[in-house]
Amino acid sequence: MARTDGRYGLAYTTNHPDSAARFDNLVSAYLGFGRDIGDHLKALLADDRDMPLAHVAKGYFFMLFGSAAMAERARKSLADAERLFESADTTDRERLHLEALRAWCAADLDRTTDVWEAILLDHPKDVFALRLAHFNHFYAGEARKMRDSVARVLPQWTDADPDIGYVHGMYGFALEESGDYARGERFGRMAVERNPKDAWSVHAVAHVMEMQGRHAEGIAWVNRHEADWSTTNNFRFHLYWHRALYHLERHEFDQVLSIYDDYVASDIASDMYLDVCNAASLLWRLEMYGVDVGDRWKGLAEISLRHVDDRELIFVSLHYLIALIKSGEVEAAARMAAQIEGYANSAATQGRVSARVGVGTATALAAFAKGDAGSAVDALLPIRYDLYCMGGSHAQRDLFEEVLVAAAVQARPLIARRLLAERTALKPHSAWSWRNYATALRTDGAPEAAVAAERQADAILSAA
Ligand SMILES: [Fe+2]
Repeated sequence: MARTDGRYGLAYTTNHPDSAARFDNLVSAYLGFGRDIGDHLKALLADDRDMPLAHVAKGYFFMLFGSAAMAERARKSLADAERLFESADTTDRERLHLEALRAWCAADLDRTTDVWEAILLDHPKDVFALRLAHFNHFYAGEARKMRDSVARVLPQWTDADPDIGYVHGMYGFALEESGDYARGERFGRMAVERNPKDAWSVHAVAHVMEMQGRHAEGIAWVNRHEADWSTTNNFRFHLYWHRALYHLERHEFDQVLSIYDDYVASDIASDMYLDVCNAASLLWRLEMYGVDVGDRWKGLAEISLRHVDDRELIFVSLHYLIALIKSGEVEAAARMAAQIEGYANSAATQGRVSARVGVGTATALAAFAKGDAGSAVDALLPIRYDLYCMGGSHAQRDLFEEVLVAAAVQARPLIARRLLAERTALKPHSAWSWRNYATALRTDGAPEAAVAAERQADAILSAA
């Protein structure tokens, strides 16, 4: 085996002169949500079937699917990689990647991320490690770690580096999730200017607009770049989900339903977890806005039934659970809730997440869906400030805040009134929140304040 330098001077142990360049192209395809990630990997392995790091990458990609079935395949890739590493003279960096995959396959996500961060100390331009760490920080709800992870390496990057736009976009998204909207938007826009096809960076700016209640601007932003980001893999449906959220805030329900049917749920059959998260979260929000979603839940049941035993990411499991509950799959939903509860005894990273917020959230979702709003409030209220640890974005986790608010409006008017005082302060552009505030105020004996809140909702909607 030989050592070949790839982009940024990173050394790869290879059996083919083109392998390093092909590996770099694979990583760039991953950064860009390319539809051809699998093709890149196949091309790499076709000429270099024993390249040690290629098998680690294969394992990573399986793990990124976030499902039990794919984790099984990742363990096979890990076994192949272990065997190849034994006989090859690999670099420290490559061996650390193997260690990260080993930790990931063992469900030790904290250790996995620590290993990637260790790689980045010595190799700040290992953008694969950077993007994977970004992913894991994101699903640990660690916005500040996600932000600082990119900030640490950024000074080593220059304008001449082909992937620098992706790095800026990652930083933009992490800044947004850390609440620094102005800088988040600046880095996101800078990245999109450099590479309009960079969907993650379009997405970073879309998040800023969501968090700041800039709904019309958000629609214009995603529409303006649609021709580019819609060429990506299923991640594009998440951007359609964002567009649907803006329309939802504007109470443009027909448009939300069209976006749901034409895009968000259009490829559910391909069994990607993010598609189900988008779809389940959008349908439940629509229902909380008083919209009849017809038989749309049924379409999510078939896929969710395949994932009853999944616990790779509790955030994702909760979305499968929602789909099962709402589509009337009572037995499967009960089994999934029991699975989440059972996992709370595990020392695995997501087991701890399950104990901290998974069990309580699952209890609340099931209670609210069957009309027991009081129990939903009792289960969610004590853990609401810990929900971040299940990961996902603020915008995604807001579903659970909305469930809490909607349940409180039904069963605990005083709590609802206080929660909505808080929510309308944070989201003054949310008509749904003002309208619920009005209901809570009326029920809690404050009719004049209720009229004022209703007026706020009307004003937002008539300006929309
Ligand atoms: Fe998002």
